[in-house]
This record gives sequence, C-alpha cells and structure tokens, in this order.
Amino acid sequence: MSARPASPPPHARPGQTSDEDHRTRRLLRWVFAQENLDEIRGHPDKVLALIDEFSKDERMMTVGQEKGKHVLDVINEVKPETMIELGCFVGYSAILFGDACRRNGGKRYLSLEYNPEWAAIANMLIELAGLRSFVTVLVGRSDVTLDKLYRTGDVKKIELMFIDHYKPAYLTDVKLCEHHGMIVPGSVLAADNVLHPGNPPYLEYVRSTVEQKREAAKQGPTRGYNTEGMRERAVNSFMPEGDVPFLETVGNPNLVYQSELRQPEGHRDAIEVTRCVGVQEA
Ligand SMILES: C[S@@+](CC[C@H](N)C(=O)[O-])C[C@H]1O[C@@H](n2cnc3c(N)ncnc32)[C@H](O)[C@@H]1O
Repeated sequence: MSARPASPPPHARPGQTSDEDHRTRRLLRWVFAQENLDEIRGHPDKVLALIDEFSKDERMMTVGQEKGKHVLDVINEVKPETMIELGCFVGYSAILFGDACRRNGGKRYLSLEYNPEWAAIANMLIELAGLRSFVTVLVGRSDVTLDKLYRTGDVKKIELMFIDHYKPAYLTDVKLCEHHGMIVPGSVLAADNVLHPGNPPYLEYVRSTVEQKREAAKQGPTRGYNTEGMRERAVNSFMPEGDVPFLETVGNPNLVYQSELRQPEGHRDAIEVTRCVGVQEA
C-alpha cells in the first residue's frame, strides 16, 4: 500500500471548502494510487478496508465496522428489497450495507447525499467495489428527494432506512415519511450518532408512546428544526444557515414504535433501531 498523508477536521456548509473536502480528495487519490487496484476491484470488503486504513490517520465521518455491524444484523433480519440511506458521504456505509442487501436478495440501495462532490467520490468508490448497478446515489437534500421518491411512486413504503445525515433533519425526515404513509408496520429505522454528537429530539420522539405524540401534535408542527440539546457544531454543519425543512408536519402520531439502543462495547456512540409495530387508532 502507498504511504498516507495526515490532516485535521470540520464539516463545512455549502460554499465553504472544509478540511473534509481536502481529506476526501486525498482519500480518492490514495485509493486509486494503490498498486494492487485490480485485486481490490469488485471486492466491497477490500474497498472498505482501504477506507478504514486511511481513517486511522485522517478522521472520516463514516459509520465504521463496529456500529455498522449492528445495522448489518438488522439487514440480515429484514432483508429489504429496497434500503434507503440518508447521508452517503464517500460511500462507506453504502458499500457496507449495499453489499449486505445484495447478498440478502435485495434489489437496490438508494443513498441520498446533499454534497455533489462527495456523491461523485462515493460513486467512484462504489464502482470500484462493484456495486454501481445496485447502489444509486441521489444528489440533493434528503427531504426533497424523499418527497420526490414518494410522489413519483418510486418508493411507496420504507422497509429499512439508515439515517446518518444532518442531525436536526432526522426527525423532520421521519415525520415527512410518516406524513406520506411511507412508514407502516414492519418499517425499520436505524439512526446513527444518537449518543455522539447526540440527537435528543429524535430519541425522544421514537421512544414516545402514541398518547405522548398525540399530545405533542396538538401544538401543530414544529417551526423549523428542533435542535434542543444538540451540539452547536452538529446544528451548524452541512446545511445552509437559516435552512428550514421542506415540509413542516406533525407526521403520524398513531404509529406505534419499539425502539432500542444498540451500542458496541466500549463505544461512546450507538445506533437507535426503531421498528414500527402497529397503528393505534383513536
Ligand atoms: C456522517 S456523514 C454520512 C456518513 C456515511 N453514512 C457513512 O457512514 O459512510 C453525513 C452526510 O450527510 C450529508 N447530508 C447532510 N445533510 C443532508 C441532507 N439534508 N440531505 C442529504 N444529505 C445530507 C452530508 O453531506 C454528509 O455527506
């Protein structure tokens, strides 16, 4: 393997160039400079191993193998025909989970990504992994893309959705899906970073009873994003300043969720796995 260079963080907003942009370009160059590229091509595990290797020196905001294993367990159980991901970045989770979906007989993996440059890098790595015909990266903001997927009839219901993008949008995007009736009994959500950097409004919602959600819904939809208890850095990442959700809705408070935290041993972060198990009529 070729030698790796070193560097620092944060996640910039549109129009800004971040350390992350430089790092992702270095990753791409480093991966494609590998002398044994032909042995890597078509092997998702080898592409992931390269990204993991690069991440040892240059921090990448990928889900990683430890937390990823908990999502793989859910994929093996749900065996979705279509899996959706919010937040592709350079394609690490799309390669890890897309490969698992394909091995479980799935038909497609849709990865939604706002940043077109990261989407382009992801496409190159997904292609290298041999998953280009299975994984489609959809460039744009997640709420607009989810709405479009619903309106065009391309996706009628959520089977399994991995949520790993703008932290305040976890809840608004889930409510958008609820609003359209895309979340039904059997739907499963797996949300990353719920402990670090943390997402109290999302966790509170998916752990609430129908009665608690109905009570909260009486106030009407939240204006903008609920960022209570979130780190400033997470709120100020990715999306333009002053951004508001595409659709303000209370969602469907009648959906019954069972939600549990899956935390790898010794890890500061965790995945929240939420299953829709029923609809409670008034
Ligand atoms: C933590 S990274 C995703 C990491 C990726 N899931 C992985 O594990 O390899 C978050 C990604 O979400 C994207 N993102 C943030 N807000 C978004 C939005 N509203 N719609 C679509 N993508 C968004 C960012 O550009 C960034 O690439």
